[in-house]
Amino acid sequence: MKRSILLFSLTVLSFSFFAQDIKLPAPQKEGGMPLMEALSLRQTTREFSSKGLYPQTLSNLLWAAYGFNREDKRVVPSANNRQSFDVYVILEKGVYLYDAKENTLILKKEGDFRSSAGRQDFVAIAPVNLIYVADLRKTSSRDMAFADCGFISQNVYLFCASERLGTVVRGWFDKDELHQLLNLTEQQEVILTQTVGYNP
Ligand SMILES: Cc1cc2nc3c(=O)[nH]c(=O)nc-3n(C[C@H](O)[C@H](O)[C@H](O)COP(=O)(O)O)c2cc1C
Repeated sequence: MKRSILLFSLTVLSFSFFAQDIKLPAPQKEGGMPLMEALSLRQTTREFSSKGLYPQTLSNLLWAAYGFNREDKRVVPSANNRQSFDVYVILEKGVYLYDAKENTLILKKEGDFRSSAGRQDFVAIAPVNLIYVADLRKTSSRDMAFADCGFISQNVYLFCASERLGTVVRGWFDKDELHQLLNLTEQQEVILTQTVGYNP
């Protein structure tokens, strides 16, 4: 009995202290703010509280960014339906890859790497930095990858407006540093980054 209590406590402790894959709650695909109101509120913000997003909010955010809304197609269009992006998520606990099918964040690196996500001060404070990575073997062209990325970013802007979260899409980051951090291949390229968090 004592042994099982000890084992249970150790399991709970390891869940809370160590980074690991994160199974997200199913995204909520209904509700939210009417579209015209969200468009009216869409804006860039550059001040963030360090408070983490609730798992449900994170799940909804990622689904809005790059989830599937049909069997094999996504909430964003993509040139020639190449779906050439990966969305990496840098949280305080680690660097993760969003697996939209499994609705899971796959741990890639443990530790706080938020300061590697960009050069502006708020990047290291905000709870979430999204890194949009194109696989240039899959895209029809690099130009198309930039266009595809705009749709992802705008979905995040609109979701944030709807949830009254702050966000800023960023082209100012160290490409090489992120390439190394994410352990990308030569054919992969970070196109844009985007910070998300609560307003202070
Ligand atoms: C492709 C792109 C790259 C951007 N890069 C940055 C950036 O690195 N840092 C930043 O603070 N804002 C960045 N922005 C945000 C713009 O500065 C912002 O959208 C613009 O000032 C208009 O403000 P609004 O979004 O509130 O309408 C970027 C926007 C776009 C579309």
